[in-house]
Amino acid sequence: MNEIILKAEKLSKKYDNKIVLDDFNFEVFKGEFLSLLGSSGCGKTTLLRLLVGIEQPTSGKIFKYNEDVTDKTPFQRNIGIVFQNYALFPNMTVYDNIAYALSARRLPRNEIKSRVMEIIDVVGLTEHIVKKPRELSGGQQQRVAIARTLVTNPDIILFDEPMSALDANIRVVLRKELKSIQKKYGITMIYVTHDQEEAFALSDRIMVIGDNHIVQLDVPSNLYHHPKNSFVKSFIVEQLDEKVKSILGSIKDE
Ligand SMILES: Nc1ncnc2c1ncn2[C@@H]1O[C@H](COP(=O)(O)OP(=O)(O)OP(=O)(O)O)[C@@H](O)[C@H]1O
Ligand SMILES: [Mg+2]
Repeated sequence: MNEIILKAEKLSKKYDNKIVLDDFNFEVFKGEFLSLLGSSGCGKTTLLRLLVGIEQPTSGKIFKYNEDVTDKTPFQRNIGIVFQNYALFPNMTVYDNIAYALSARRLPRNEIKSRVMEIIDVVGLTEHIVKKPRELSGGQQQRVAIARTLVTNPDIILFDEPMSALDANIRVVLRKELKSIQKKYGITMIYVTHDQEEAFALSDRIMVIGDNHIVQLDVPSNLYHHPKNSFVKSFIVEQLDEKVKSILGSIKDE
């Protein structure tokens, strides 16, 4: 328990001499659901891009299971990422979109089929398997995007506001499914959202980012009962709706 799967050490990122992330130090536990919350432009997407390996830090290191992976590709890191705008292949069926990464890895056809069919079942798309993305709802397209990452068997999946284009009802359904997928496969998830309530509903811990720094990285009840400063209080705690507050109010301090 509490094995550290990912560690950022003195991680910083500048664009054109403008600091976006300044000295990020944190650890992520295996199987954990960690959310990132912060104002628009605070660097959440940038942090995910560094962690997955599609962007290089200006300084600092990233470790996975104590191995320095800072110079490794996303494939070598075995970290997946799901974006907000799905980015599916429009001319491919649901099946082919999900099978694509495995075909590219030249796995045997029958192995590809059994893995793809398992994942399609998990995300509830079995009856849509021959459809093209344009024939799917937004929620179904996002399921394909999640399945496409899941099928490669990553041990960490990063999500960049995966629900933000969906309406509130679908969001609640999909986030429950995400939680059960996480439990089923024991995947570590790092999840960017603008939705404080969503972060509180899903997360083991929440990282609040402000002013290019980690302001507070803590379990939800501690953020609520012991916000570190007025920013956490006004940006996070006061934005929660009454239902969430009453649940947290009844949770004892940790
Ligand atoms: N490739 C780039 N070149 C130059 N500046 C960039 C680049 N990518 C991001 N930035 C800048 O870095 C800062 C952080 O951007 P980032 O996309 O990480 O923010 P964010 O927290 O994800 O915002 P949002 O909530 O709006 O998605 C912004 O000021 C942005 O303009
Ligand atoms: Mg972003």
